[in-house]
Formats: sequence, structure tokens, C-alpha cells
Amino acid sequence: MSKIAVLGYGVVGSGVVELFYKNKESILKKIGKDADIKYILDIRDFSDSPYKDKFTKDINDIVNDDEVTMVAECMGGATFAYDFVKACLMSGKNVSTSNKELVAKKGAELLAIAKDKNCNFFFEASVGGAIPIIRPLHKCLAANEITQIAGILNGTTNFILGKMINDNMDFDTALKMAQQLGYAEKDPTADVEGHDACRKICILSSLITGKHIYPESVYTKGITDITLKDVKLAGKFGAAIKLIASVRKLADGKIIPMVSPTLVTYDNLISRVDDVFNAVMVCGDGIDRALFYGRGAGKLPTASAVLGDVIEQLKTEGRGTDTAQTWVDCDNSEIVADYKNAECRMYFRVSGASDIRPENIEIIEDADELVFVTQKISFAEADKLEASITSNGGKVEAKLPVLDI
Ligand code: HSE
Repeated sequence: MSKIAVLGYGVVGSGVVELFYKNKESILKKIGKDADIKYILDIRDFSDSPYKDKFTKDINDIVNDDEVTMVAECMGGATFAYDFVKACLMSGKNVSTSNKELVAKKGAELLAIAKDKNCNFFFEASVGGAIPIIRPLHKCLAANEITQIAGILNGTTNFILGKMINDNMDFDTALKMAQQLGYAEKDPTADVEGHDACRKICILSSLITGKHIYPESVYTKGITDITLKDVKLAGKFGAAIKLIASVRKLADGKIIPMVSPTLVTYDNLISRVDDVFNAVMVCGDGIDRALFYGRGAGKLPTASAVLGDVIEQLKTEGRGTDTAQTWVDCDNSEIVADYKNAECRMYFRVSGASDIRPENIEIIEDADELVFVTQKISFAEADKLEASITSNGGKVEAKLPVLDI
């Protein structure tokens, strides 16, 4: 009998327990042997829970129990979760986590410990919620050179932008709804400022390069400056504003990962991804492109991904580490290129007296404000254009990239 421990009984942890018992019969068939949840770790009191006998507040109960071979970490954060996951891996237990902060900050170290201890550190649930993307990237698509990934990796901000676009709802009301639905992080700053999407693109970038890409190396801008005015003007241009996380491989092998609110034109399926859904477009030299779509946050969608890893581990137990899903530490300055070299079309909204009209722009509106989209330029050139508009008496109220994939 395989014994499982669940760390954290919040939105995701309680979803893991609920889904496991709901589908236990079919899950056990897939594993091919008996298995059960022996422990649930949480410092809060759950004495009314039907699972009350499984609760512990002491991680050592789990670490020191040889019966437990699989740990599902659903606590979040990179402090206690880091200590607990490390202790579990050090004692040879396999771990599945939904914790993107932990993987983005400590992935290289935890993967190395797992390899050393001949066990697995799985994190399918850390990117894209319910969407299978980690395993497809390093297994199904392993024959490809991955050249570019771009998509919506944060459900909360997509939910908020959708409410702004479709329902004219203001930012704060939409955020409150996302929190009530269990989509947002404990501190929603991580969602709205783009840190959550940044951690997720770090994980995908690390997978495709084999090198740990740290959040500090990624240009990250959130959605707090996005106004209803820009949402409407983007619509007039034929695009939706989405928080896009992307990574592009350059000819010299370096990468440019970034997170930014971005105009996505309606001919791109990503522009149609609404609500809490995520979508990840992967480009490779064999596949051309593949789009992965599904619920990016929430209790059971995320629990589904955590349990997928648990099932994968328990049915293949004893076969050692999955060496395909790994990366090593590295000096990021050697692999991450300056985002200012990235090129794409740029949306500008300009107020004030500037009479600068760059050549070959597409004008969206020319009334109180001048609103236009440039031809393909680099971020550095866009900054220069902004500087010349400013010195000419204008003010750039908004400057956003247009997705090019
Ligand atoms: N806060 C995250 C999101 C949860 O909204 O996407 C899933 O990682």
C-alpha cells in the first residue's frame, strides 16, 4: 500500500483530498495497487473535518514515516514549503507541488536533491493549473527545438481583464470576485503585478533551456496601469489586452523571457481566452505550433494536475528519477538577453502637444489623443520614440507590445 501526505489544506490541498476520494476507485486502478492519504499537514484546526484523523501539525510525522512515499505540497510560498519539501526529498520521498514560487526560486536545488536521492520532484500543477504543459513539453514535444512560448499564465488577471472588457467592471470589484472564487494568490499583488506569471514563464524557460532561469532575470510588468480606455482602443484596433508571459529563443541560443500586458489581435486564438482560462502557445521546429488551453486556477483544476503527478509516481514507483524533467543552476547573464532587444509592433497612446508622427504607423484615433501602432521596433527603439515625444511636449499615456507569434 502506498501512503500519501498532503501538505497544506487550503484551496488546492483540500481539492487534492476531495478529488482523490471522489475518484479513488478509478485512481487506484490506474496506479495498479492500493494507496491512501495518510497525513494532511496544516497548522489550523480541522477537528470537524471527515478527515480529522489524518491531520498533523508536525512535518516530522511525515518525514519520519517510511510508509509515506509520496508528498503533495500545496502550501505555497518558498519559506516553510521549501524547508518541508527539502526535508521530504532528503528522506527519499517523491514530491508533487503546485507551488510555482518554490519551483521558480529553488527548482535547480530541489531537482538536484531529488536526483541524488533517486526520487522525483514533480510540478505539473505549477504552470497553467489544469492544463498539461510540463510533461508535454519535456516528453511529447521532446523531439523539437522549442523556439518560442507565449500565453496567458495567470487566471486571476485574465479574469479581471475579461470583466473589464466584457462587463465594464472596475478593477477592484473584479479582483474581489477572483479572490472569492479561489483563483488569486494569498497576496494578490503577485497576480496583478505579474510576479505569478513571471514565476511560471521561468519554469517553462528553465525546462526548454535546461538552465534555471530566475524571476529577477525576467522583465515583468503587471496590469495595474491598464485602463478601460486602452481596453476599448485595443478593441478598435482589433485586439484584446491580455497579460502575456513569453520566452523567445534567439539565434545565438540566448533567450528573452518577459511578462507584459500585450495587445493580442483577434486572429490569434489567445485573444479569445477569457475568464480564468489559460492558454499556452508552444512553437517548435517539428510541430510548428501547438496550443494548450484550460482552467488556469481553482481548486479542482489544480488538484487534478497535482494528482496526475501523484498517480504517475505511484504507478511507476521504483523506476528512479525522471531525468527528462530537470535543469541545472546557471549564471543567468550568460543565457538571458536584454529584453530591450526584443522586437514587435508597439501600441502608443499620446496626449499633449507633440506633433511627432513616426512613419508607417497605423493610426487608431487622432482626436484629443493620438493613438497608433508602430511597425516592428525594438523595446529600446520604443523607449527612444517615447523620449522624443516627451521632449516634443507630448506624454505617452500607454505603451504596450503587440503579440507576435
Ligand atoms: N493565482 C494563480 C492564477 C493561481 O490566478 O493563475 C494558479 O497558479
